[in-house]
Formats: sequence, structure tokens, C-alpha cells
Amino acid sequence: MPPATPLRFVQDGMDYRDFLARLAAAINCQSYFEVGVNKGRSLREITAASVGVDPKLRLEFDVAGNKPMVQLYQTTSDDFFARHNLTALFGRAVDLAFLDGMHRFEYLLNDFINTEPHTHAASVILLHDCFPVNAEMTERERNPRARRDQDLRRLWAGDVWKMIPILKKYRPDLSITCTNCYPTGLAIIQSPDPGSAVLREKYREIVAEYMDQTMTDANIGAYFEAHPFTAPETVLARF
Ligand SMILES: C[S@@+](CC[C@H](N)C(=O)[O-])C[C@H]1O[C@@H](n2cnc3c(N)ncnc32)[C@H](O)[C@@H]1O
Repeated sequence: MPPATPLRFVQDGMDYRDFLARLAAAINCQSYFEVGVNKGRSLREITAASVGVDPKLRLEFDVAGNKPMVQLYQTTSDDFFARHNLTALFGRAVDLAFLDGMHRFEYLLNDFINTEPHTHAASVILLHDCFPVNAEMTERERNPRARRDQDLRRLWAGDVWKMIPILKKYRPDLSITCTNCYPTGLAIIQSPDPGSAVLREKYREIVAEYMDQTMTDANIGAYFEAHPFTAPETVLARF
């Protein structure tokens, strides 16, 4: 008997890149930071001064466009933050950050920890892939051939979904809005605190606490119930 197809939780709101472009315009973004540039498809949507980081750039899109400035760093985000001061690169704090690099939660947690000191009270940080379409795409080691739902084998969300419960538990001061952008949702983080040290100080404890947690067909429904969506258009209208 073939293995049962896993449950699907389809995110059918506007494409996340359209959301990104519209949000950047809505907040009059002047400084944009992106972790995970890849082909440049999301970076192309931005007209503001931009800094992008990716250890393996595969540029296929016009990431310069009409931007007043664009700097690309072909390195890991950890290495980037070890060597550079993001605020100094812009000459100001980051208005909008899109964290879309390595899809393992301890990396995204680090990216968040390293980005937040370069924000201001009205900055927005977007987390990608926290709302997987099925449980099997949350694998930590990408393994498309082993997927039961082969139609979705190209989507890999990894276990960055853990960031939502982590931030809600350890940073109740943040405003977190979840939206069903296609294909794997977006988390919109507002009211960052550039001076907060909680996540940095508790990093090891948090990673140990969440490392062995897994998303399965049995608990994915409860995850979506615990973190309900606000429609992308509603989110944008609030800015
Ligand atoms: C899903 S792609 C980014 C897609 C792009 N933001 C878009 O929407 O068009 C993820 C990227 O993260 C990059 N990446 C992997 N590990 C990374 C790390 N440690 N630091 C920064 N980027 C990383 C990969 O090379 C890959 O290009």
C-alpha cells in the first residue's frame, strides 16, 4: 500500500514577494536588509538602499534596479555579522529586514538576534517559511526524494516554524502577526528592541529546548490553530 499523503495546509494569500514590495512602500522603507538572496527575486522587489547576504549568490534578476545603493556579501550571515556593522553600512538603522537564509531554526534565531540591534522602534522584521504546507517539508535535512507528497517536494521550510513559539515565549514584548502569504507564510515582527539581550543570553538554552521538537501530521493542525493568520491585505492596511 502506498504511504498516505500528508495533510496539507495551503497558504493561498498574495505571493510573499508582492507583500514584501507593498510593505516596503507602505512603510517608506529607506534601508532594506535581506538574509538569503539566492537568485535576487525578492531583492529585485525593493527600491530602497539594500544590503543582502548569501554564501552562494545565484543572481538571475536585476537586484540593482533604481536602488540608490546595493551591497551584496557572498558569505554566511554569521560571518557577515562578525565582520560588518549593518547600521554603519547604511548610515542609519534598518527599516525592513527579510530573514530568508538557512532554514534551520538555530540559524534564523541567530539572524534575528544579530539583526535586531540594528533596528529602530518602527522597523519591521519578516520571517519566511514559518508556516509549512505540510509536516514533511519541515525536515532539517532537505530530502525531496523521501517526500510522500511529491507535488510539494521542491518546497523546503525546514524547522524555522519553531521561531514563532520561541519568540512568543521569550519575547512577549514583540508584536507578531502571522499571515498566509503564498507559499509558506510570513511572520511580521514589530516593536523590536535593539537593546534586548534575552535571546542572546538564552540562546543555548532555547536551542536545546527546541532542537528535538518535530512537526508531524499529528501536531501540525494544532500549530496552525495556535498561530492564526491575519490576511495579508489586512496586515498591509494597518501600516
Ligand atoms: C530560499 S533562498 C532565498 C530566496 C530569496 N530570498 C527569494 O525570495 O527570492 C535561501 C538562501 O539562503 C542561503 N543561505 C543558506 N545558508 C545561509 C547562511 N548561513 N547565511 C545566509 N544565507 C544562507 C542559500 O544560499 C539560499 O540562496
